[in-house]
Amino acid sequence: MTTSTATAVAHPNIAFIKYWGNRDAALRIPENGSISMNLAELETRTRVTFDTSFPMDIFDLNGTRQKGSSYERVLKHLNLLRGIRGISTHAHIFSENNFPTGAGIASSASGFAALTLATIAAMGLELTEIDLSRLARRGSGSACRSIPAGFVEWQKGINDRDSFAFSIAAPEHWNLIDCIAVIEEGPKATGSSEGHQGAATSPYQATRVADSLRRLDICRQAIKARDFAALAEVVELDSSMMHAVMMTSKPPLFYWEPDSIRVIKAVQSWRKLGLPVAATLDAGPNVHILCEAGSEKQVEHKLLNIEGIHQVILCHPGDKAALD
Ligand code: DP6
Repeated sequence: MTTSTATAVAHPNIAFIKYWGNRDAALRIPENGSISMNLAELETRTRVTFDTSFPMDIFDLNGTRQKGSSYERVLKHLNLLRGIRGISTHAHIFSENNFPTGAGIASSASGFAALTLATIAAMGLELTEIDLSRLARRGSGSACRSIPAGFVEWQKGINDRDSFAFSIAAPEHWNLIDCIAVIEEGPKATGSSEGHQGAATSPYQATRVADSLRRLDICRQAIKARDFAALAEVVELDSSMMHAVMMTSKPPLFYWEPDSIRVIKAVQSWRKLGLPVAATLDAGPNVHILCEAGSEKQVEHKLLNIEGIHQVILCHPGDKAALD
């Protein structure tokens, strides 16, 4: 019997410029590049153990043995990674998120980033950050952005080799805070993977993609110059453009709940009154309110005063995925 094990920690990320729609769904080559910030306070910790005596692969998530589509998706990724080393040894995967399950915070980015790094290390390999990012992308597109540190850009690329993410600024570069207004998710939320497939059915998707280089430039420059006003404008525009595509796809996807709209409108009114804030939503009803350090307590207090908002999670810029 031979056994080998490794543990990795990765943070989820919030997209400032969103990934929505794939040119190649199997390889997860996106239609457009994207930019995000890792979230320091949230993390997935994953331990991967290979043992020649294991009769099958096991995946435990937050203490629950996984079956069905969640297990199949992880197994597919595990097989891709095992293929690099040419092994068929079974693995036990123990993964835990430190954020509340059911709070609507997507865990596929941190989950597949941590799984990729831990599996590669457990197989005794050391890969470059670019190669880790490329591999994580195959498990979940946004996971490629959870490999590098801080503020991260995913260059869309045209093939498997050149579609990966890299850091454009370290976490210490800018103390931005993501104040997540947690909103109850309804029972029938459509997952991102299914959503991406419908993106091309929206008449607005081509326009959104065609304008993406411009938005990426503005966002990248705003981050580099720590220009909050410029960042706020492009982040809100990009979120609205993605949700316009979602709402006009076939079938239409409406991720916004009444509470989401209440928060979006409140954020707009605070900004008019002079508080620098910006709102953005991924594929769910939670609203991510960005502000600079120093304003977060005020933002949190104001959010908790809005009907329907009972929980706010404050996140600073997070580090790269790392072995534990
Ligand atoms: C709206 O990365 O979750 O959050 O590749 O199918 O796993 P898969 O999709 P995923 O899509 C993320 C969509 C988004 C925008 C973003 O994070 O860029």
